[in-house]
Amino acid sequence: MPSLSHRVQTFTDSVIRRMTRISDEYGAINLSQGFPDFPPPKPITDALKRIADEGPHQYSVTYGAENFREALARKAAKGIGREIDPEEEVLVTCGGTEAMMSAMMTICNPGDKVVVFSPFYENYGADAILSGADPIFVPLVPPDYHFDASLIEAAFRDEGAKAIIVCNPSNPCGKVFTRDELMTIGELAKKYDAFVVTDEVYEHMVYAPNKHICMASLPGMWERTITCNSLSKTYSITGWRLGWLIGPAEVVEAAKKVHDFLTVGAPAPLQEAAVVGLNFPQSYYDELLQIYTEKRDYFCDGLDRIGIDHNVPQGSYFVMVDISRYLKKPQFSGYTDLEFCEWMIRNIGVAAVPGSSFFREPVGNLIRLHFAREKDTLDEALSRLAKLEEL
Ligand SMILES: Cc1ncc(COP(=O)(O)O)c(C=O)c1O
Repeated sequence: MPSLSHRVQTFTDSVIRRMTRISDEYGAINLSQGFPDFPPPKPITDALKRIADEGPHQYSVTYGAENFREALARKAAKGIGREIDPEEEVLVTCGGTEAMMSAMMTICNPGDKVVVFSPFYENYGADAILSGADPIFVPLVPPDYHFDASLIEAAFRDEGAKAIIVCNPSNPCGKVFTRDELMTIGELAKKYDAFVVTDEVYEHMVYAPNKHICMASLPGMWERTITCNSLSKTYSITGWRLGWLIGPAEVVEAAKKVHDFLTVGAPAPLQEAAVVGLNFPQSYYDELLQIYTEKRDYFCDGLDRIGIDHNVPQGSYFVMVDISRYLKKPQFSGYTDLEFCEWMIRNIGVAAVPGSSFFREPVGNLIRLHFAREKDTLDEALSRLAKLEEL
């Protein structure tokens, strides 16, 4: 067989999705890959039933159905603090995943440097490789996940980084960037004329007193920010593969070309059904936040009762658990976090993601769990996790 591309040999399959496969194999409770086990809002699924009969079933406009873009522009305008032109400043993609990849392909030439915080959502590694960009990692330092702005400045100044990726709220560490932190990053991007690509898929899971602030809403940042987002988490429809990218017209026009040749377009019937969700009143988002706040508190309290060390996320639905105490036990001598996660699936019946898949630094004592699960599932997961304390 002829050889495969160098490109595909430079990254592995997704560890997150691999943990899901192993979890399924052993029938474990899957707290690894982040998706809810509860249904999407009924008005959205009702709309989908109607659309099955009525259509549309053919391609939408490649950059998104008009009514979908209009609803999106209205919703996004609130966070970004300016009117969004649905024709020129919005691109509808197949999930936030494609939005990020399209953004990177639109702004990066092979060899361009891009600042990526570590820990990072693992897709950004592949986004960089596939777009030819060269990541410069800046640590978010546990346990509070602060960063040293001088390292970002050095990346812009000394290495000529062209962009920075900001996942806010952050997967995996649950960090919500403060206004001051975003201003610091934004000022550096302006000073060194760089792009900021934001991934805001957890924008509606930001726990009080933290607040979600869109980078694009800060002074002078609209011009250089590409905001990527998705319907996956906000409406519990990760399988629908609907996302978007919003930014200045010139950037979006170029991103439309990338998107057109990558996927042609996002699924037309699903866009039509999801318009209903984009038009939900504020009460929907308030309720969603309340549900996730309760889940976060319930899960974290449960971990506390067992005695498991963990962070308390400011946003998203992920908790980082510190497994140092267990790794010190003789039976785990020499275990990596990945091996510990595999052991956990087989022996405890709960799937987690090894932290090393998110960190550039040699961090081997953290694993990520998510709590987007019904209460009964969380109860069962907690009772299984309690066995860790019997080791
Ligand atoms: C930070 C982050 N960005 C993007 C995605 C992918 O979103 P989508 O399902 O819209 O592709 C995820 C999914 O877990 C995520 O955690």
